[in-house]
Amino acid sequence: MKWSLKESSLPNTDNVVIAPPEGKLGVLIPGMGAVATTFIAGVEAVKRGLGQPIGSLTQLATIRLGKRTEGRTPLVKDFVPLASLEDLVCGGWDIFPDTAYEAAVNAQVLEKTLLDQLKEPLRAIQPMKGVFAPEYVRRLNGTYIKQAPTKMDLSEMLVDDIRQFQKSSGVARTVMVWCGSTEVHHKPAEVHQSLAAFERGLADNDPNIAPSQIYAYASLKCGIPFANGAPNLTTDVPALLEMARDRQVPICGKDFKTGQTFMKTMVAPGLKSRMLGCRGWYSTNILGNRDGEVLDDPEAFKTKEETKLSVLDHILQPQLYPMLYQDLYHVVRINYYPPRGDAKEGWDNIDIFGWLGYPMQIKINFLCRDSILAAPIVLDLALFMDLAQRAGMKGIQEWLSFYFKAPMTAPGLYPEHDIFIQLMKLKNTLRWMRGEDLITHLGLEYYD
Ligand SMILES: NC(=O)c1ccc[n+]([C@@H]2O[C@H](COP(=O)([O-])OP(=O)(O)OC[C@H]3O[C@@H](n4cnc5c(N)ncnc54)[C@H](O)[C@@H]3O)[C@@H](O)[C@H]2O)c1
Repeated sequence: MKWSLKESSLPNTDNVVIAPPEGKLGVLIPGMGAVATTFIAGVEAVKRGLGQPIGSLTQLATIRLGKRTEGRTPLVKDFVPLASLEDLVCGGWDIFPDTAYEAAVNAQVLEKTLLDQLKEPLRAIQPMKGVFAPEYVRRLNGTYIKQAPTKMDLSEMLVDDIRQFQKSSGVARTVMVWCGSTEVHHKPAEVHQSLAAFERGLADNDPNIAPSQIYAYASLKCGIPFANGAPNLTTDVPALLEMARDRQVPICGKDFKTGQTFMKTMVAPGLKSRMLGCRGWYSTNILGNRDGEVLDDPEAFKTKEETKLSVLDHILQPQLYPMLYQDLYHVVRINYYPPRGDAKEGWDNIDIFGWLGYPMQIKINFLCRDSILAAPIVLDLALFMDLAQRAGMKGIQEWLSFYFKAPMTAPGLYPEHDIFIQLMKLKNTLRWMRGEDLITHLGLEYYD
């Protein structure tokens, strides 16, 4: 469906000017594995009427405007001008040469009978050779890799790939969503402190520059918004933040919020809202896909653990509620267990306490499908990042925190993890863009 906003139903006081989503939107994905191919196949399936975009806020959610008595509740996609699914063109890179069809079959997320109906468009997507460094992802031996003397040369090869993709596909705009593997734990170094230092580091092959950062640099250099679906450091360093701001490009991350953390950020705000205490939260998972294999490396898991652990502290605020949360013992484990493939299973044991300190327990057993939960997030991020760019928004897009385990924020600002606050932030940003009143949920006006 084309952009079909009824102009007459809109106020003319928009806070930003949003360019219309004319032409095709390119979605470039470094890492064409389980998540990426489930997203691409899903879009093709929806386009052909073979499935519904369940889990996608841009496709299904509505947004209330004005007072509850006004009855104005358009679909999000009718309220802000988003690219339509028909206009998406996907491409990407991997360190293995499999087409999107082969990669989707190997990932074993979607049924072969469905994939066979989508063979033609999926086979047409052949990844471009990846930029890879085995010291950053130690469990994979990539065979389909760019070679060049320096990291700067590699970034230029990525820029050429991007230009080539834009030319051959005829897209009018492009976004990039990182769906590649989790890199080993990596802290900001000297080379990340400014763009000048970073560019020197690219030319000097500084070992502290990770492959994901070379992709992000190429993306920003081309003025392409970059969303980070992994917990990797990537754009969370002064050099790339500076580049995003200076070049007026939106960025967001990190780490898609899917299975267990999604549950955690729903349950923890509920416990806190009733001032119930929490002594311990033990989370464990079994997972058997390639992501699970990469995370079996303790250094890669450390990157993931950091984003997973930070969530509870920020939601429960033990510094404000020491009686309830000061000594909370929080453990997160991921166990690689190949028989499960993508069908992850997560267990949470939550030791809570109530009135007079009496203990209680909550058990959550979530039999989820990782990539089924992640695919609609890729779609929403691609569409919203494109919207942000057309609206002239630049740098960190905190309003997209809703989609991430470790939302990026301005330096010094703590991230908002509570999923309900995140949703309100997202919808209020859309209202703000279109000059609508923000919804405060105060409600006193109904009783005047
Ligand atoms: N599935 C989820 O629910 C979920 C949730 C949060 C985050 N993630 C993250 O999303 C990413 C993708 O997950 P997945 O399940 O699709 O994993 P996957 O292993 O199936 O896919 C990752 C792909 O990236 C490729 N790759 C690795 N390094 C690369 C590089 N430098 N350049 C190009 N390609 C590269 C791999 O070959 C692989 O095909 C992972 O980092 C994962 O941690 C996934």
